[in-house]
Amino acid sequence: MIKVLLSGICGKMGANILELTKNDEQIKIVGGIDLNDGKVGDIPVYSCFDKVQEKPDVIIDFSSPKIIESELNYAKKVKAAVVLATTGYTAEDLQKIEKASEQIAVFRTANFSLGVNLLVKLVKQATAVLGENFDIEIIEKHHNQKVDAPSGTAIMLADGANEVLNGERDYIYGREGACGRRGNEIAMHAIRGGTIVGEHDVLFCGEDEIITLSHSARSKKVFATGAIKAAKWVANKPAGKYDMTNVLNF
Ligand SMILES: NC(=O)c1ccc[n+]([C@@H]2O[C@H](COP(=O)([O-])OP(=O)(O)OC[C@H]3O[C@@H](n4cnc5c(N)ncnc54)[C@H](O)[C@@H]3O)[C@@H](O)[C@H]2O)c1
Repeated sequence: MIKVLLSGICGKMGANILELTKNDEQIKIVGGIDLNDGKVGDIPVYSCFDKVQEKPDVIIDFSSPKIIESELNYAKKVKAAVVLATTGYTAEDLQKIEKASEQIAVFRTANFSLGVNLLVKLVKQATAVLGENFDIEIIEKHHNQKVDAPSGTAIMLADGANEVLNGERDYIYGREGACGRRGNEIAMHAIRGGTIVGEHDVLFCGEDEIITLSHSARSKKVFATGAIKAAKWVANKPAGKYDMTNVLNF
């Protein structure tokens, strides 16, 4: 049985993970981290990692970038793997995550859905074919409570395309005051409204033709399913950096 500490247990994704694991015989949520001490059902919830009594094998994190340092220190101390689903990490946070992966298994992706991970692959293929001659624009749409913009998934898609282009494109966010294209760029545009779960369109715009690759998530369950799969996969893996390409068969 894999013992999991669920960071962000009181949030929307926390609720989805609890629902999907309640009858799972391979995984048990032994504790949670959130803003206040307390309980969710019979699961103890702690307001900081130092208070945790249980010894987890894996930490699943759907919370906030603010706790990354204490989380990594705790994971190193108890030798737990981490599944980082939270988005909005700064470059400094990402460096800390990279460093921690020398000591513990770190599984991180901005999107746990099978469809989006396939979309990244398709974007790389399209970029390889269309290359320099097509402008790339990404439009992402999310619910009105989302705390970060652009979405981690939009950045993941841009990174996929830019990897194929040897990192030559700069990123710009929105186009206020910068109307025309300045050349080497990938622009990301964020829409926030209502209860949209997550929509991503990658547009390849050429002369007289447009190719659009799209993904639409219809519920948060797809992300929870992927994160649980990742937690099962990464438990007891050696130190290193992992993502969904390690788990999915493509
Ligand atoms: N990687 C993916 O596939 C994926 C999918 C969905 C959401 N996310 C990301 O997961 C995160 C959470 O999403 P959500 O929709 O569940 O949000 P949410 O706001 O519903 O839940 C976040 C939870 O974290 C808690 N929290 C916030 N700051 C905290 C802190 N400093 N210490 C302890 N707990 C804290 C909140 O109280 C809340 O219960 C976001 O960053 C979101 O972008 C990632």
